[in-house]
Amino acid sequence: MIKHIGILTSGGDAPGMNTALYAVVKTAQQFNIKVTGIRKGYEGLINNDLISLDATTLQSTMHLGGTILKTARCEAFKTEQGRQSAINTINKNKIDALIIIGGDGSFKGAMWLTQLCHIQCIGIPGTIDNDLAGTDYTLGFDTAVNTSMQCIDKIRDTAESHNRVFVIEVMGRDSGYIAAYSGLTSGADSILIPESKNDIMHLVTDIKSYHNEHAFIVVVAEGDETGTDLVCKKIKNENPHIDLRLTKLGHLQRGGNPTSNDRMLAIGLGSLSVHALIEYKTGMMAGIVNNKYCLTEFEHVIKKHEIANELENLISIFCGS
Ligand code: ADP
Ligand code: F6P
Repeated sequence: MIKHIGILTSGGDAPGMNTALYAVVKTAQQFNIKVTGIRKGYEGLINNDLISLDATTLQSTMHLGGTILKTARCEAFKTEQGRQSAINTINKNKIDALIIIGGDGSFKGAMWLTQLCHIQCIGIPGTIDNDLAGTDYTLGFDTAVNTSMQCIDKIRDTAESHNRVFVIEVMGRDSGYIAAYSGLTSGADSILIPESKNDIMHLVTDIKSYHNEHAFIVVVAEGDETGTDLVCKKIKNENPHIDLRLTKLGHLQRGGNPTSNDRMLAIGLGSLSVHALIEYKTGMMAGIVNNKYCLTEFEHVIKKHEIANELENLISIFCGS
């Protein structure tokens, strides 16, 4: 029987992580299960850096962005020595099971813990990039999209006033989801994402017929292979008289209080993870698919997440030439 769960947040922080922590501890409390926080992702597991968690305290931080547990990108966890220290921490503290909140990298680590060390693990998708299979949405994505959309709206105000072209870079290490959602919802003229190869050709065609009589907004995902510098160069090559500005939104997209959608997702998935552990499930990520909570094996989750066909179609209707 599970008596003690360890929980950590790993990789890039994402709004909704604190809500998920609260949901896990609150659910565990109903089954008299103790929950211990592991600080700074896998680094805390290696260094035995633990804090006890209680639902009343977490209730006052569940609405905040970031992660109160802190997070890290921990290279040492990829080494034999680092992993052995992690196992020692788990054994020493009599932790029966782990909940890992993070992205695909974090779940590769969790896969190692479950498959080679037989430690019971459930994952919760926490990344603004929305780049995991096994869930339609990841914690933080909705908040990041709303932030990016509001920033693009503001840029449009000044772009319209000057009839300027703006190239705006949004986050997404290998994923165009933030670009697609924030670009479509802010009426962008062009959206460039890593999953689609022809969009730069459409942009070049569209910019040929642009005559400085209104704003022109280009949203580029950070992971797009063309990159914003080359996009700007191509625009200038087509028309040197264009009044062009480049804005990189950067890490402000990762902060802020989670939206109600992200909080609801965190509450549902946090609670599901505890129930899954009680039912002796392991090696799986909790997610939401077609509005239903579900569990998917880590190996399926970390496969490259394709962008939905419907989304690509919308981009070509609204931002195609
Ligand atoms: P994310 O989880 O957001 O994708 P990272 O890719 O940075 O973020 O991964 C987070 C952490 O997960 C890494 O710093 C490392 O500690 C661990 N990790 C990533 N890949 C592996 C791997 N192949 N094996 C073991 N641990 C890994
Ligand atoms: O994975 C989330 C993410 O915000 C990506 O969109 C971005 O490329 C990366 O993290 C940035 O990482 P860091 O905070 O380490 O610079």
